Amino acid sequence: MIEIRDLSLAFPNPASPDGRTVVLRDFNLSVAPGEFIAIVGASGVGKSTLLRVVAGLVPPNSGTMVHAQSGDLRGRRPYGLVFQDARLLPWRTVRANVAFGLEGLGLSRAERRRRAEEALALVGLADKAGRWPHQLSGGQRQRVAIARALAVDPDLLMMDEPFGALDAITRQSLQDELLDLWRRTSKTILFVTHDIDEAVYLADRVILLAGSPATVRSEDRIATPRPRARDDSAARALVTRIRDRLSDLMDGGGI
Ligand SMILES: Nc1ncnc2c1ncn2[C@@H]1O[C@H](COP(=O)(O)OP(=O)(O)OP(=O)(O)O)[C@@H](O)[C@H]1O
Ligand SMILES: [Mg+2]
Repeated sequence: MIEIRDLSLAFPNPASPDGRTVVLRDFNLSVAPGEFIAIVGASGVGKSTLLRVVAGLVPPNSGTMVHAQSGDLRGRRPYGLVFQDARLLPWRTVRANVAFGLEGLGLSRAERRRRAEEALALVGLADKAGRWPHQLSGGQRQRVAIARALAVDPDLLMMDEPFGALDAITRQSLQDELLDLWRRTSKTILFVTHDIDEAVYLADRVILLAGSPATVRSEDRIATPRPRARDDSAARALVTRIRDRLSDLMDGGGI
């Protein structure tokens, strides 16, 4: 469904001898429809940049990206994005924040409202539609951000450390809600996280990036059916292996 081929991207960097930082060089990744992929790697390795390029927010210097869309695209967008902070507009209600991404798609106001409410129901916040962002908890704000991303009915949901700022309990419950959402909507998910436990608990495949430029250091497929036990011994062993690889990369200065 998504084929990333030989993607390269350099940012201008006056401090570097050649005047640029190469973040991606000939980067390849294939993602199957409905797959849940977690991307882990050291800070600065290029995880957010990769998502930004896939989302079309940053044009690559070279490479191709094929994204086969499913179904009718009227009133939809190909991607939904969720960041570490919810980035809600404080002067808009929860419903109007979710409807924000639907503007410019040729939908009537009533239809935008209906779609926003449907997305809020998906994340269990139907009763909070009329509230203001400051009246919500951090976890609820993050659920609104997920609803906003889902409202445009994207094939691909990209999440950049979406639960990174939440406490452990809220984080675990949002992980389970996300899995439930994923099962019900069959979206393809690219999920960036620093938390290897989270990656192994959630994903079908965990991709460890090394840099720089970013390359795939390892790829682990996790076939354990869901719901998964958080203390599963095979999962624990995999978490340790990925952590060891990550710390080897950092010790070697290869981050
Ligand atoms: N707009 C930009 N201009 C110049 N350099 C940038 C820009 N955005 C990112 N970079 C550089 O690209 C590299 C990768 O950054 P990126 O934000 O993708 O890392 P990351 O893996 O998401 O890190 P973190 O885990 O800390 O979020 C870094 O060296 C960063 O300084
Ligand atoms: Mg990042």
